[in-house]
Order: sequence, then C-alpha cells, then structure tokens
Amino acid sequence: MKITVVTLTLAGLVLSQAGLVQAEPITLNSTQQTGQRLFAQACGVCHLQASMGAKTYGPMLNKSSAAGNDEVMRVFINNGAEHMPGFQHYLKPAEVDAIISYIRTIPVPAQAVETSLPKGK
Ligand code: HEC
Repeated sequence: MKITVVTLTLAGLVLSQAGLVQAEPITLNSTQQTGQRLFAQACGVCHLQASMGAKTYGPMLNKSSAAGNDEVMRVFINNGAEHMPGFQHYLKPAEVDAIISYIRTIPVPAQAVETSLPKGK
C-alpha cells in the first residue's frame, strides 16, 4: 500500500514536471531577440495585445501568420496591407528577416486565430 502511494506521488511529480517544461518560455537566439525588440517597437502598437483584453487593431501574429510562408510575410511587411503601413522604407531587409524569425517562434494559440489570408501554402 505504501509503495503504491509512493509510486503515485512519483508519477504525479513526473507529470507536473512535464507540464512545467512545456510552459517554459521559448529561448530566442540573438536574431530572434532583435526581431522581438523591433516587433515591439514597429508592430506592437497594432499586433500586441493591448491592456485589459482590448482588441488589437491587427490580427495576433504567430508562426502560422501569412499562411506560414516567410515570403508572403515579407511582402506584407514591406508593402503593408489595406489597414497596415508598409515598412520597406523604415526597416532594413535584415531587420524584416529578424522580425519574421521572431514571429515564427510564437506558438499558435489553442484557439483558432483570425487571419486575413487563406491557410496553407
Ligand atoms: C497601423 C497598425 C499596424 C502596424 C503598425 C502593423 N500592422 Fe501588420 N497588420 C495590421 C492589420 C490591420 C492587418 C490585417 C490586414 C489589413 O487589414 O490590412 C495586418 C496584417 C499583418 C500580417 C498578415 C497576418 C495574416 O496572417 O493575415 C502580418 C504578417 C503583419 N501584419 C505583420 C506586421 C509586422 C511585422 C509589422 C511591423 C513591422 C506590422 N504588421 C505593423 C496592422 C498593422
């Protein structure tokens, strides 16, 4: 009986540790960190969650944005869209690449995300 309790406790520990590992923040390489900073500066006003659950102006971005296609995302960032300014005169190509590599680290939320582009490549 005592052994069963110990076994269950151990199993519980293993499970909760597995949960912790999953919840750990993603480690970014230096390019992705640059991208994160640029993203917060140039794009955050529209693409980062505002406070108190206010709706963002642009869609929340993650690795599946722009149909998961880096080329499509580059065109989006350089040329903008109907309600989004283009950044080709503000950001260097390397900065755009850094932003894209950062966005590709953002996991897709469990809930379906709204996107203005069709899914799939
Ligand atoms: C003025 C607000 C605004 C800013 C600033 C802005 N965006 Fe956007 N973005 C939007 C809106 C709104 C959309 C949705 C398309 C539309 O309505 O034009 C969008 C769409 C996108 C999409 C396409 C998402 C998809 O999957 O359909 C990408 C990628 C994107 N933005 C990236 C960026 C990046 C990167 C930056 C910073 C360099 C940025 N945006 C800055 C407003 C903005």
